[in-house]
Parts: sequence; structure tokens; C-alpha cells
Amino acid sequence: MIQPGNYVRDLLKRAPGDTVCARGWVKTRRDGKSVHFIQLNDGSSPTDLQVVVEAGLVPPEVIARITTGACLSVEGELVASPGKGQAVELKARTLTVHGAADPEEYPLQKKKHNLETLRPLGHLRARTNTFGAVFRVRNALARAIHHFFQERGFIYVHAPVISASDAEGAGSMFTVTTCGTGIPACDVSQDFFGRRTYLTVSGQLEAEIFALAFANVYTFGPTFRAENSNTPRHLAEFYMIEPEMAFCDLKDNQDLAEAFLKSQVEQVLRDCRPDLEFLAKWYEPDLFRNLETLVAAPFERITYTEAVALLQKAGRNWEFPVDWGSDLQSEHERHLTEELFRKPVIVVDYPQQIKAFYMRSNDDGKTVAAMDVLVPRIGEIIGGSQREERHDVLRDKIRAHADRGMKEESYWWYLELRRFGGVEHAGFGMGFERMMMYLTGMKNIRDVIPFPRTPGNAEF
Ligand code: 4AD
Ligand code: MG
Repeated sequence: MIQPGNYVRDLLKRAPGDTVCARGWVKTRRDGKSVHFIQLNDGSSPTDLQVVVEAGLVPPEVIARITTGACLSVEGELVASPGKGQAVELKARTLTVHGAADPEEYPLQKKKHNLETLRPLGHLRARTNTFGAVFRVRNALARAIHHFFQERGFIYVHAPVISASDAEGAGSMFTVTTCGTGIPACDVSQDFFGRRTYLTVSGQLEAEIFALAFANVYTFGPTFRAENSNTPRHLAEFYMIEPEMAFCDLKDNQDLAEAFLKSQVEQVLRDCRPDLEFLAKWYEPDLFRNLETLVAAPFERITYTEAVALLQKAGRNWEFPVDWGSDLQSEHERHLTEELFRKPVIVVDYPQQIKAFYMRSNDDGKTVAAMDVLVPRIGEIIGGSQREERHDVLRDKIRAHADRGMKEESYWWYLELRRFGGVEHAGFGMGFERMMMYLTGMKNIRDVIPFPRTPGNAEF
């Protein structure tokens, strides 16, 4: 295995004269008169390591196997590179081809690809420069998120993937069952858990349990939605980060969300600059401007009612009309962030009927203490709220949702949290892939997750 300090990323920084072993996959091979040049990468760096193989070092039939996609180990000496783009290159002494990649067959060799033609190549696309950059950023973003919360003393909670409750009350869940594998046709009481179970849509309700024991907590895990929305911003399986805080109201919740987004961008700008430069060059010329604006400017904060008034005044022919009481659509969110305010906007106090049952009712009797954080290009990146902590109010809301399939008895423990040591609390959920789109400039959410699950698509 590759030991720390020996990744291509590290070798590129080492001094000439060191003897090293590089391992990885061939990007390209060029043949000069008396030397062969190989660009080698192990996925650790946007820059390849140039390997120089003098003619005659290995037989021609070995050279012939060193084509794009082949896997090699090369041992030799790092020497100062006369070429531009790298300080050192590796002068090969011994070379092993572990696995060839027949250029007549290798899909990444055969034709020019774009993001769309790479999607059916889920087993190979990670080897391209673009996905190298995207997935290194994804790794750095995950680390940045843990760092942000850990530094603030939040406890990381693993919410269950298999869940019996519909946390969003939206009914777009995948069922988990062993029915069909020996159990009499779909008798729920005979099923594995003896009840209906689903893939979780959100870890929030479980996070609330932990927030009422550890005060500040967060989840970071996969969540699932069976919405049949084939858009560039929706996945059936996506990662969500859900902080939940006791002793917290909607104002504190907004402050945390803003600090959270800013910290992620700052950390990734610091840790992944060469990858972001690559992505800006090929995919989003405004990338650095967008990222730096998010860090620098305070987010705009407006109420839903104000947002509706602004949108009605905009003099636009909206595809979806703007009326008080209907949800903001992506075109409205983009208008607010891209044209009116030109920065992230937090919209609060949405009408009760378009938001989830657990959001705290405001005194006006019409709105709830909800917040959505909208960012340019993406729209909603965070959804959250202050939670309804008043037992009877919450119970009545669950009852009022009976027509949407909510059963009071399924939420007995959630209600009980309001009877024993309850307190004002709030939280939010950030879509990890939405944040990835914002950070990388990728336009389609399928290109920021290793193996996208969308309607009709679960091959890899
Ligand atoms: O607004 P949502 O549905 O909120 C919740 O699930 C709350 N339980 C969060 C909480 O308060 N703890 O989802 C939160 C975020 C959205 O803002 C969006 O970024 C992302 O999750 N998201 C999706 N991302 C990709 N594909 C989907 N189908 C998504 N649905 C939501
Ligand atoms: Mg939402």
C-alpha cells in the first residue's frame, strides 16, 4: 500500500535526489526519441507525476502496455524537471505494469468524454481529472464539517438509516422489507421488524432526542427520498448534515447556519485551492467570486411575507405564480439570491401549511418559525426551524395531519420528549451535495456524489 508521504501529491514536493516508489494509473504516455514520458497519478493530486523512462530500460512490449488507464509501480530517483509545470520528475529505475488497459477497449481512451457520457462509466470516471478534483473537494468538505462542529463541542450522532417514522411527514419514503423473500405476501406483522419500516428521510427526530441529552449535536449520514423529481438538484439518496441545539431559537439557528456555510467555504478554499482552480477554469468562471462573496458579506435575512412582496413587485412572468401561501420555487429563489440581493438570503416565517408538522407555530397563527437558506445558482441549500416544544400544540398539529397519513401513536416518544425536560430547541439540515455543487461549480448533482441514485438509475 502507499504509505503516508509517498502519494503523488507528496512526491511532487520532495527534493531532487530522493529515491522513491510511485504507484498509480497512467494518464498519458508520450514517446520522445530516446525517452518515454508517462503522466502518473494516484488520485491524490490535480498535478500528475511525470515519469521518465529511458529507451531500453524495459523491453518494447512492456512500453506498449503502458497506456492510459494502466496501473504501474515505478521506482527510481526524483530529479529536477527541465519541463514546466513541475519541479521534479521521476527517473525510472525499475517499472512494473500491474494491470494493462487495452487502448482499443478502454472506455476513457476510446473517445472524448463529457460529464454526461461519463455518467454511465461510474466504475471509471473517478480516474478523470474532473472527478479527481470533485472527490478530493468532497473529502475536504466532510472533514471541514466535522471540524466546525467538533470545535464547538457538538456531539456527532449516528441516526438510524432504517426508521419507522416519516420525519418530514411528506410521505416520499422507500419501504424496507424482507417481504417476497419467504414471508407470506406482505403481512407486515410477519415482516422483519414486525412493523412498517422505511429508509430515513431525515435524522432530525432522533437528533432531537440527543439534543435533549447532549445540548448540541449533529448527524451526518445518508438520507433517502422517493420523490420522482428528475432535476439537476435532487437525488433519491443524498447526505445530510443535521445540527440540533437545545436552548436555541430561530435567531441563533440562523446565526449558526451562516457561520457554518462560511466556515465550510473558508476551509475548502484553504485546503483545495488547486482543485478549485481547475474546476473554475473548466466549469465555472465565477467560482472564486461566488465563494468569496459568501464568506465576506453578511447574509440577507427576510421573512417569507417580505419575499413574496418583493417577487410580486419584480414585474416578471413567473412560470409558477407567487401568492402568499404557495411555496417558493427555484426560479423565485434564484431571483432573490442572484438578482435582488446577489448573495445568500435566509427566508424565515413561512406559512404553516407548506411546512413540516414539527415547526414551531408563530403567534400570528399563520406562520411557523421556519428558515430556508438560499444561495445563488443552487437555491435552497439549508432547511430548518425552531421546533414546536409545547406538548399540546404539537399533539394537535400531528392530529391535524391525520389526513396526510400521520398517526399520533407513531410519534408517542417524540411527544414524550415535550413532557419530560423539554426546552426551546432548533436545528437545520444542509444537503451535502447541494453544498458540493456550490463549491465545485458543477451544474448537476449527479456529478458530485460517487454513485448517484435517481429514478431509474442505480447501476453502480
Ligand atoms: O428541507 P429539508 O427537507 O429539511 C429536512 O429534512 C429537515 N429535517 C432538516 C432539519 O431541520 N434537521 O432538507 C434539508 C436539505 C435541503 O435544504 C436540501 O439542501 C437537501 O436537504 N435536500 C436534498 N438534496 C438532494 N436531493 C434531495 N432530494 C434533497 N431533498 C432535500
Ligand atoms: Mg426544505
